Amino acid sequence: MQKDEALRLFRDPDLIPSEKQTLLSNIAAQAADLNMPCYAVGGFVRDLLLGKPVNDLDIVVEGDAIQLGKKLVERFGGKLTPHFPFHTAIWRLPSTFNLQPSTLDLISARKETYEKPGALPTVTPSTIEDDLRRRDFTINAMALRLDGEGLGETLDPLKGQTDLGQGMIRALHPKSFVDDPTRIFRAIRYEGRYSFQIDSSTLEQINPEALKVLHSLSGERLRHELDLIFDEDQAENMMLRAASLGVLGAIHPKMPEFNRDYADFLEMDARLDVQADRRTMGYMLWFMDLPEDEVILLANRLDFTNELMLAVWAAAQLKRGLPHLTDMKPSEWTYALEKLPLLSIYAVYLVTRENGLLRYLSVWRHVRARTTGDDLKKRGLIPGPRFGEILLRLRSAWLDGEVNNESEEKDLLAKLL
Ligand code: CTP
Repeated sequence: MQKDEALRLFRDPDLIPSEKQTLLSNIAAQAADLNMPCYAVGGFVRDLLLGKPVNDLDIVVEGDAIQLGKKLVERFGGKLTPHFPFHTAIWRLPSTFNLQPSTLDLISARKETYEKPGALPTVTPSTIEDDLRRRDFTINAMALRLDGEGLGETLDPLKGQTDLGQGMIRALHPKSFVDDPTRIFRAIRYEGRYSFQIDSSTLEQINPEALKVLHSLSGERLRHELDLIFDEDQAENMMLRAASLGVLGAIHPKMPEFNRDYADFLEMDARLDVQADRRTMGYMLWFMDLPEDEVILLANRLDFTNELMLAVWAAAQLKRGLPHLTDMKPSEWTYALEKLPLLSIYAVYLVTRENGLLRYLSVWRHVRARTTGDDLKKRGLIPGPRFGEILLRLRSAWLDGEVNNESEEKDLLAKLL
């Protein structure tokens, strides 16, 4: 790309907000002071050239990024967390910058070698060219120079721009997925997000050898990749694609396909006052129809947090147990559901449209007796288990329509005392 065209995109506030442009100029000026050529790379360049708003600022310098980070902190404030083995640093930006994300990765241009498939790479400082060559796909292997006279020059040794123009996701070398099988998920994400195509020889690299390495990856790394899929608009298509490429089966033979009928429910909002969380929703919908022991097995494989495990397990349990609740009284529904995470109930409601769940979510869970513990004390009752029983009985009476106003509640209370 011509320098002026790249600069035009770079200065477009719809693609990079002006505060971020200022930040980048300041970093580049500081790098120039230290004689370190400074580049934006990766997703930053890819999205900029696609004319899409840039999210993360991926910065690489030819030189010591930790030294650059120290200078930036001296000059602008904030906090630096260096990571010496990788020659990288995370700069927590000063709060006065008021930027999101509030941290920025500073990276030293480096070469990577994978000593063992799937292991984290060994890193040695090197040139920007080498840094681009260590990356996943040609469309992510471009750099835009930010400092001095070079500002606006694009470095594209692997013809990323051509592939970007043709919508092609192409790995840089035949062992890319064996080195790092998380890149298979990345390919699936880019394919779905941009409606691109995975190039045929790259697709062939998703072979038994790469899937075997993928099988050996930790639950935490795999879950991170799946989390990122659930964050995407096209999550269900990506999940179906992952299944068809054998990726889900490679994680665990019992991994189910994502049920296409549940796709719309990923697009949930905060209706019925339930806190929306796309990832938890994604895992619940994915595993909801599995038997309990398989939910636990897969949750362990993916290293779910206790909270996530509980949400998914509760959704599966509730869906299975629904027939038992159907003829119950509202109070019985309420006390059974109250033990479960709200989001699990919401997920099962979306899938089943069971009216009891809707009534619980919208009405029953908010119902309380008017009488409080204090009122009972004032009436001379000594606090103890009987207290709870009376309050529960009053609440049930409201839920089940036995009392409908305060005076009816008072009458019932009088009978109970
Ligand atoms: N990268 C890589 N191999 C990986 C992970 C990352 O080569 N397994 C490189 C790619 O060049 C990528 C860059 O590191 O562009 C930054 O990674 P990341 O922030 O995860 O991805 P983005 O490209 O910013 O993509 P996204 O929009 O999905 O965040």
